[in-house]
Amino acid sequence: MALLKIARMGNPVLLARAEAVPDPAAPGVRQLIDDMIETMEDARGAGLAAPQVHVGQRIFIYRVPEERSTGADDPPLPVQALINPQIIPVGDEMTLRLEGCLSIPGLRAAVPRHARVRYEGIDRDGRAVSGEAVGFLAMVLQHENDHLDGILYPMRMTDLTRFGFEDEVMRYGMPT
Ligand code: NI
Repeated sequence: MALLKIARMGNPVLLARAEAVPDPAAPGVRQLIDDMIETMEDARGAGLAAPQVHVGQRIFIYRVPEERSTGADDPPLPVQALINPQIIPVGDEMTLRLEGCLSIPGLRAAVPRHARVRYEGIDRDGRAVSGEAVGFLAMVLQHENDHLDGILYPMRMTDLTRFGFEDEVMRYGMPT
């Protein structure tokens, strides 16, 4: 196990498109995922994508913290991994959801995202997984998948008045 160094916005590694993982069951993939889990938990994040730790492969991890669960259809979820994921919008509905990013420390923003998505991919044990997600889970899947395409959440924003430092946002709330 090892803590990995997290790249911050401004590092070009975050703007590159990641490559598909040729063998999702390879031991090195599982080791990377385990190191990413340790790194995310140490940084108290809810998601982490391989490009954020300088690995240009299509892998991310995510969880739904208890306090971010939005209801019975978006329950708290322990950390999961997706390898070679596909995230597909379901329907046209968009929502604004509060986001942060371990590569943009200290900041928060309300970012427009698809309200419902379908996800497909390979899990940490090499099994094919799929399902639909709403709420926080739908958001974190879109946020992490964007990292694999070199997209950071400010690039999704349409209203920069909804962008601020976490302590100020917690104190004053996000403009609506
Ligand atoms: Ni992020």
